[in-house]
Amino acid sequence: MILARELVAAPANVVDPIVLAETAEAIANEFGLELQILEREDCEKLGMGAFLGVAKASDLPPKFIHLTYRPAGTPRRKVAIVGKGLTFDSGGLNIKGPGSGVEMMKTDMGGAAATLGAAKVIGQIKPDVEVHFISAVTENMISGRAMRPGDILTASNGKTIEVNNTDAEGRLTLADALVFAEKLGVDAIVDLATLTGACVVALGDDMGGLWSEDEAIATQLTQAAELSGEKLWRMPMEDKYFDGLKSVVADMKNTGPRAGGAITAALFLKQFVKETPWAHLDIAGPVWKDKENGYNNPGATGFPVRTLVNWVLG
Ligand code: BES
Ligand code: MG
Ligand code: ZN
Repeated sequence: MILARELVAAPANVVDPIVLAETAEAIANEFGLELQILEREDCEKLGMGAFLGVAKASDLPPKFIHLTYRPAGTPRRKVAIVGKGLTFDSGGLNIKGPGSGVEMMKTDMGGAAATLGAAKVIGQIKPDVEVHFISAVTENMISGRAMRPGDILTASNGKTIEVNNTDAEGRLTLADALVFAEKLGVDAIVDLATLTGACVVALGDDMGGLWSEDEAIATQLTQAAELSGEKLWRMPMEDKYFDGLKSVVADMKNTGPRAGGAITAALFLKQFVKETPWAHLDIAGPVWKDKENGYNNPGATGFPVRTLVNWVLG
């Protein structure tokens, strides 16, 4: 949790994609985890057009992190934890305006930070579960090379996406990360992401949103959260709302109407997981606490490292 909090609290000119990759490397070396870092060219070969679309405007290299913990002996189960890793989110050409909280968008790698925090714990506890820690890390920037509103991207599962808003970038990076995770043949996938302001409006700063159509994972995560003292609230995967993401030029748009924005975000992600039991956590609220909200020790929280670890152990 200390690691996750430090990574989230550090500004974007300190914790950038290279530093997150180096942090993964340090964990791998210290606790004997396997590490694979996919560079831009590797991601191109895998057809990760959604992730790379987001990464296009950044002067820093994207890093696709894949850390693996393998227990000695046969694993009881295999799981993947996928964290959103935007070291900064300017919004891209749909740039974030005044009042958007853009100055806090160093926290947009909170999912990746908690994923690395959990990797550090799992590397020490050494449970009998194989765990893959994954994050497609980049920044969402503006430049002459930037992805444009209206561009069509092809993700690594072949699905096409009309980018009607470059600020809905997290789901684009997660799309390719989820496809990658499923190809590993794991028994379950959990993603965690500072995905939507809409989730903060719905649940406030104290709770993360939990979406899953798999009752077993939903129950496991709810119990893991209860045990950890971190709050998750189950949200609806309302298929009808996918209508809001329908595109006339691609398989889907990346954003729908303002109403129900956290739900359409979850439905977007669902297009990139075929059959593996999967849950999505929107942690945009609880990764950070403000003094204004009554916390006398404001800052990064490390949410939901403890829940992730309890879930793996459970
Ligand atoms: N990183 C933001 C979500 C966010 C907002 C996190 C506020 C923490 C606090 C995400 O990439 C984003 O910009 N989402 C947009 C989606 C919209 C364009 C559909 C949002 O929530 O406004
Ligand atoms: Mg954004
Ligand atoms: Zn973002």
